[in-house]
Formats: sequence, structure tokens, C-alpha cells
Amino acid sequence: MIVVKTTREINMMQDACTLSARALKLAGEMVEPGVSTYEIDAAVKNYIEGEGGVPSTLGYGGYPASTCISVNSVVVHGIPSKKTILRSGDIVSIDICAYLNGYHGDNACTYACGAISEQAQRLLSATKECLYQGIAAAQAGHRVGDISSAVQRYAEARSYSVVRDFTGHGVGAKLHEEPSIPNFGTPGRGPRLIPGMTLAIEPMITAGDYHTRTLSDGWTAVTVDGSLAAHFEHTVCITPDGARIMTIP
Ligand code: MF3
Ligand code: CO
Repeated sequence: MIVVKTTREINMMQDACTLSARALKLAGEMVEPGVSTYEIDAAVKNYIEGEGGVPSTLGYGGYPASTCISVNSVVVHGIPSKKTILRSGDIVSIDICAYLNGYHGDNACTYACGAISEQAQRLLSATKECLYQGIAAAQAGHRVGDISSAVQRYAEARSYSVVRDFTGHGVGAKLHEEPSIPNFGTPGRGPRLIPGMTLAIEPMITAGDYHTRTLSDGWTAVTVDGSLAAHFEHTVCITPDGARIMTIP
């Protein structure tokens, strides 16, 4: 079942989205050579809890941290660690979900650590643009497949690959709600988009092949071919005149 929210519910959910976006901004500002992903996670946990929220991922399905921090060929669900020290040239995907007032917000961004290669920069720019292409396609009356295909078209036209193993999703009182929002698909297919739906649109794009595998920790998802991966995500709400981004700091 796809939950359609009332205006009042969406206003309540805005607080969780704003908090998620502010936490992501804070995390992004910490990305520098020499910083451990553990330090970033600890700062985010402290910030979200200080604002009266709860990091949604902490304990979610057994996930052990308040952020997912995925470096270079890690696609998603990188577990923050004191042993993961950022280095200049790394690309660092940070995914943060916060729960406040009965609702979740969900957003992600891939940051450059120090100076990164031109190839890496191009991947980041293209993945961010994939997100905005997906958001632009998320019009009331359109279907989920219109979002999926907009993302896929933009990525593949630039010879990038779209990860299949993870998708965007509805978000609200639960972190993961229906519908699932793949980043590949067919225009005109899938559930119809209706004002009041709140969706996490989140392209995960690789510079190589799209296959991923999960490391023995049960979470860390990496590209099988070792290629770089980027991830950008916003929570949006469908309105009569397009999708409105809710995860703005
Ligand atoms: N932010 C992730 C998402 O977009 C959620 C992380 S799932 C967890 O779906 F299990 F790792 F917490
Ligand atoms: Co998400």
C-alpha cells in the first residue's frame, strides 16, 4: 500500500527532513583527509540526538551506526569505522536518515575528499544530475517508471551504469514504504504518482559495471569490478505542480 499524506502530515514530516539535511551538511563539512568515518558518524549521532531526533539507521535491521559512509568502490551501507581514514582523492558517499515527530527523512550525497580525479568529478556531477532528472520526472499523474527511466537514460547516455541491487522507496512514518523506485525502468510503467506521496529518490551510479556484492560484515555493498560508485538522494513530496524537495537544510 502506498501511503498518501495529508498536508498536515507532510508539514510534520518536514522537520525530520530538515534535520536529515542539516545532519548531512554537517557530515559533508567534515570530509577531509585524515578524518575517520567513525568521527563523522559520532558527530552526526550527537547532532541528531541533540535536536531531539533519532538516527533512523541505528539498529535498523541490525545496522550498527547512525550514518552509512561508503568510500570509492563502496556503493552503499558502508559502516563507519575508526579504521577507515579518508584520504585526498577519495569520493565519500554519506547517507543519513533522521526520525523526528513520528516521521523519517532520508538523504545522501557523495563528497570529494581533497582533490579528486577528473573522472571521479564527472561521476559525481552526473549522479547528482541523475537525481535531478528523476525529481523532474516525478510529476503527479506520471508513474514510477518515468522516474526510473529518466535516471537510467541520463546515466547510460554517459556510459555509466545504474545499480540494480538497491532502489529508492517511499518514506514517511516508516523508513522504507512502498513504492520501490528502481533507477532503471520503462516510462509509463509502475504505480501512478499522486500528490501527497513522499518518496526517497536515490540514484546509485557506477563508473563501471552495475553488479554489487556484499562483504562478510553483512552490509558493505561494493562494486564487483572495483569501479567507483556515487549516490545522491533527496526525500521529495509529490505536489500538483511537481516534486518538492523536502531535504533542504
Ligand atoms: N538511507 C538508506 C536508504 O536510503 C537506509 C540505510 S538502510 C540501513 O534506504 F539498513 F543501512 F540502515
Ligand atoms: Co533511502
